[in-house]
Parts: sequence; structure tokens; C-alpha cells
Amino acid sequence: MTGEAGTPAATVDVVPLRRRHLRQVLRIDGQQEGDRWSPGLFLAEIRRGDDDRCYRVARHRGRVVGFAGMLYAGDDGHITTVATDGAHRRRGVATALLVALATDARRRGVDALTLEVRASNQPALGLYRRFGFAPAGVRKGYYSDNGEDALVLWADAVTSDDYGRRLGSLSGSPAGSAPMTRSAS
Ligand SMILES: CC(C)(COP(=O)(O)OP(=O)(O)OC[C@H]1O[C@@H](n2cnc3c(N)ncnc32)[C@H](O)[C@@H]1OP(=O)(O)O)[C@@H](O)C(=O)NCCC(=O)NCCS
Repeated sequence: MTGEAGTPAATVDVVPLRRRHLRQVLRIDGQQEGDRWSPGLFLAEIRRGDDDRCYRVARHRGRVVGFAGMLYAGDDGHITTVATDGAHRRRGVATALLVALATDARRRGVDALTLEVRASNQPALGLYRRFGFAPAGVRKGYYSDNGEDALVLWADAVTSDDYGRRLGSLSGSPAGSAPMTRSAS
């Protein structure tokens, strides 16, 4: 798991999304099937600041290799987007990003996280399962590009000690932090 194409999770750092990252984020977003975010949408989210948002990028050797975002609404955190550069997948990049988002939620006392995912998106479903997300409903024909259903997933008790331990084991730390993965908020 070495070389330019590999991304050892140990060398990924997670930092707040800023305007300067946008070009690289759009490049990664453009690799996805279906609906993509416009530059204006990303910019609007960045401009909203961190009060009710948490957007992060993962960098490897200074290059953005993934991004993820969450907005807070009421008592819940809604994960809006997660993506890893196609050349850097299965190296723990999205895991490091979700650990950062869930850690931010815990810091704010937010106990429940939710998201929508394409019913056929097995990689994402596998990722979310590791974070304790379980299906709670279906939005029929939610995706406009192909009419695919969305599964609505929820993770509960995010502020619990058990969940902290889960994050710890996902990030290789017994205390819920990520010693192998530098994280800035
Ligand atoms: C889903 C996605 C974000 C995962 O990113 P990633 O950086 O490769 O994920 P990780 O390396 O952290 O994987 C964590 C776990 O998720 C699951 N997973 C990830 N990719 C998988 C795949 N292709 N097949 C099956 N399980 C997969 C596995 O359980 C994996 O752990 P493992 O590698 O130890 O088996 C990435 O595939 C992607 O960007 N897809 C396109 C965008 C997308 O679908 N985003 C989600 C929208 S809801």
C-alpha cells in the first residue's frame, strides 16, 4: 500500500474545507456518477462558516484526496456529501473524514446523524455500516438522474462512550482520537 497511487491512512490529514481546496474538491466530485454539486453550492456552504456546518478535506502529501460535509439541523447532523478520489479509495480516507465529522458532532453534543444514500451504493453502505448507520426508511425515486431510491440511514447514541470507542477503533486509537491521522478543526 505504498507508492503514488496508495494513500496510507497514516499520512492523511483532515482539515477544514476552504475556498483554496475547491478546484481539487470539484475534480473529485466530478468523478461521481449522477448529480454533482456546482461550484456555487460548495462556495455557499463554505461561506456559511462552521456555526452549523462541518466540511472537511483529507489531504495526502498536500493534495486533496477526499472531502465530506455535514450540516446541523435541530438536534441532528445531516451528512451532505462524502467522496474519495478514485485513485485513493480503500485506504481509509473516507473513514478518516467520517471520524472527523462524528467527532465534531460529539463535541457539539449532537447525538444522531443521518444521511441519504443510493440503494445500490454498496461501497458507501459498507462505509456507513462501520459507523453504526442503519436503514430507517426509503425515499422512492429520490435521485433525479435515474429515479433510484434513497435509503435513509441513521446513527444514534453518537455522544455515548460506546460510540467514542467505535470511533477510537476506526481511527486506531483507544480514546476516540486519531493519532495516526492528524485532524484539525
Ligand atoms: C464510498 C466512498 C466515499 C468510500 O471511500 P473510501 O475512502 O474508499 O473508504 P474507506 O477506505 O474509508 O473504506 C472504509 C470501508 O468502507 C467499505 N467500503 C469502501 N469501499 C468499498 C467497496 N468498493 N466495496 C465494498 N466495501 C467498501 C469497507 O467496509 C471499507 O473498509 P475496508 O477497506 O477495511 O474493507 C468512495 O467509494 C467514493 O468516493 N464513492 C463515490 C462517492 C460516493 O458514493 N459517496 C457516498 C455518497 S452517499
